[in-house]
Amino acid sequence: MMTSCITEQPETLASAHVPAELYDGLGARHATISPKFLYDALGSKLFEAICELPEYYPTRTEAAIFARHGAEMARVIGLGSTLIDLGAGNCAKAASLFPLLRPSQYVAVDISVEFLHDALNRLRQRFPHIAMEALGLDFSSGLELPNNVRAEKRLFFYPGSSLGNFTPPEARAFLRRLRRNCGPDGGLLIGIDLVKDKAVMDAAYDDALGVTAAFNLNVLRHVNGLLDADFDIRGWRHVGFYNEAMGRVEMHLEAKTPQRVRWPGGGRDFAAGERIHTENSYKYRQADAMSLLETAGFEATRVWTDPHCPFAVIHAQAAN
Ligand code: AVJ
Repeated sequence: MMTSCITEQPETLASAHVPAELYDGLGARHATISPKFLYDALGSKLFEAICELPEYYPTRTEAAIFARHGAEMARVIGLGSTLIDLGAGNCAKAASLFPLLRPSQYVAVDISVEFLHDALNRLRQRFPHIAMEALGLDFSSGLELPNNVRAEKRLFFYPGSSLGNFTPPEARAFLRRLRRNCGPDGGLLIGIDLVKDKAVMDAAYDDALGVTAAFNLNVLRHVNGLLDADFDIRGWRHVGFYNEAMGRVEMHLEAKTPQRVRWPGGGRDFAAGERIHTENSYKYRQADAMSLLETAGFEATRVWTDPHCPFAVIHAQAAN
């Protein structure tokens, strides 16, 4: 049988206690799966592939801003920071800033910890003078930094517009938590995607090659592993678009035909056309992004943008 060649990957991240939010989301009237479950080992690789797509403008635009203004960022921020990279992934963005920022310590935080260790081991060879720590934690629900993270000159690095995964009130609460954790001499370097032409955003989240579709569908494979569930991935299609009224890109998985899904102790039937909401990616207007930071206790020192594609990199200092 052909399927005998398909081996299940052992689940290593906290599989002992499956997050209750997963069951809650699947059981809700409008089913949801939190976007953090997009990032198992394969999901992280698929996201890397998304970043190479011609349609996916955020990574490229932000990289262009760093390339063009990195030296000025370093002057504004100063050298020797404790650089805390939230959602570090392959650590490439932060690493590109090492020569300019010369951090005294680099702390890479990501929920997908295996991926992180590989990336960090390579970085240690390239930058032997920078102390490095890998933290496998889900910082969306809390931010307990261990004692080996230096307290001085903390700079939270939150690029890629990942803030967009939070609703604006959640984003404010999250930024407040960063503010509490960064100390009076700390700050934040954040990349925020700005509202732009709807067609551009639609294409970025529903690309021609179908990489975003694979990334989204992979969440079902991950959930099958976590819950011992039996989602039939071929029974679902990817939906991704900018919702103008909500000011956000949404990703959903839509049942092509009626789907019956079972897991130990439960399950759910989905009608044809029924959707599971898997991600929101809020897009901000620059002024709204600034006031969000302000109300969270930060004071913006500079904003860098791209002349062709609306995206903002903002440095903000802890305010009192
Ligand atoms: C990693 C949350 C910033 O919202 O653009 C990419 C994730 N989802 N394509 C984004 C994502 C679909 C990405 N963030």
